[in-house]
Amino acid sequence: MYNVTYKFEQKGLEPITFNNVEDGQSLLEVALINDINLHHNCGGVCACSTCHLYVEQGDTFLEELSDREEDFIDRAVNPRLNSRLGCQCVLKPGSGSIVVSLPDQSQFLGE
Ligand code: FES
Repeated sequence: MYNVTYKFEQKGLEPITFNNVEDGQSLLEVALINDINLHHNCGGVCACSTCHLYVEQGDTFLEELSDREEDFIDRAVNPRLNSRLGCQCVLKPGSGSIVVSLPDQSQFLGE
């Protein structure tokens, strides 16, 4: 079980932490079932970059970055060293704390 905290670069949104999150889910799935707005234009199959997020803590609990994911991260807005695609960040069996930061989702309005 994990504690997962979502922080937001969008102004006015406070961080939210979810406790007892089960492994086997992606950070995109965890966000969506908790009504967090994280874009996912390709439906979570690693074919876009709209689920881009930054992993601030707990990256070792997530499935490893693939070459394909890296390619799409390169096309994301403002990629950084800790960039990942939320749909590819599946929680590995285990427990711990994960903290991620979501880019401002309003930047995708009008797409
Ligand atoms: S939803 Fe498209 S790559 Fe994650």
